[in-house]
Amino acid sequence: MMSHATFRQLEVFEAIARLGSFTRASEELHLTQPTVSMQMKKLTDAVGLPLFEQVGRRIHLTEAGKELAIAAREIMQSLERCDMSIAEMRGLKKGKLRLAVVSTAKYFVPRILGEFLRQHPGVEVSLKVTNRQRVLERAAENLDDLYILSQPVGHIELVAKSFMENPLLVMAHPEHPLTHERNIPLQRIAQEPFLMREEGSGTRLSVERIFGSQGLKPNIRMELGSNEAIKQAIIGGLGISILSRHTLGMDGMGEPVVLDVEGFPVVNQWHIGHPHGKQLSVVASAFLDYLLRRMMKSPETSE
Ligand code: PGA
Repeated sequence: MMSHATFRQLEVFEAIARLGSFTRASEELHLTQPTVSMQMKKLTDAVGLPLFEQVGRRIHLTEAGKELAIAAREIMQSLERCDMSIAEMRGLKKGKLRLAVVSTAKYFVPRILGEFLRQHPGVEVSLKVTNRQRVLERAAENLDDLYILSQPVGHIELVAKSFMENPLLVMAHPEHPLTHERNIPLQRIAQEPFLMREEGSGTRLSVERIFGSQGLKPNIRMELGSNEAIKQAIIGGLGISILSRHTLGMDGMGEPVVLDVEGFPVVNQWHIGHPHGKQLSVVASAFLDYLLRRMMKSPETSE
C-alpha cells in the first residue's frame, strides 16, 4: 500500500529520480548507501512494483517510478512552499528559486536575476540553461519553478506570459559579399551554406518555420550545438546563420554582421511560464511579478 511509504522514503526517492544515481542522492542527503538502498527496497515493497531499472551504470525510472516521482516532487514542493509562506509570515523573504531557461536566454536572464537578488538577498537561485526541448521536458517533469523560452509552447500546457521581444537576424562574416546588398530575398539566403543549431533548439525551430513559410529549405552546411559555436563558425568563414539579436555584442572581437534580408528581423516573444496547475512558491511569484513589472517599466531593455 502506497500509504505505508514514509516521507523519508519519498525524499530519498525524489533525489534519486532527479539525480539519476543512488550515490549522488546519498551524498546530497548525507546518508550512507546501504541506508538509501534499504529505504528504496521498503518503498518498492510498499508500491508493489519495481521503481527503477538499471541500464549500465545509470538508473532509469520505470513507468511506476515516473508516476511516483511526479507525486513525490509535488509533495516536496508543497512543503517547501509552506516553509516559505511561513518564513514570509515571519517577515523573512527567503527560499529557493529554480529557473530553467533556453540557451539563448542566458544573455539577459542573469542580469535580471542580479537585480532581483539585490532586493531579496535571502533567495537562493538555481539557473538551468539548456535548449528548448530539454526545458520543455523539465517543465513536464515539474523540476523547476519557472521556465523561460521564446515560442508559444507545443505539447505541454504552460501558463506563459510574454515579456520581451526576441528578434532573429541573418548573420554573416563581415566580409561576406551579401553585406553590400539591400533587401535580400530569403531565396538568396537559402542558397548560402547555412549553420544550423542542434535538434531541440528553439532557434532551429524558428529557422525551419521561416524558410518553410516560403516553401524553402536552408542549405545546411553544418549543425552546431550552441549560439557561440555558430558565431565562431561564421567568423571562421563556414557559412551564414539566423540567430537571436541577444547573442550579439558579448564577445567583443570578431562579431558577425547583420545582413539586410527581406522580412527580417523576425520577431519572436520571450515567454515566462509554468505548467498549468502548478502552485508557485512565494519566491517564484515574487520573481514572476518582478520580471513582468520590470519589463513594463523599461521597454528599452527589451533586446
Ligand atoms: P534555443 O531556444 O536557445 O533552444 O535555441 C531559443 C528560443 O526558445 O527561441
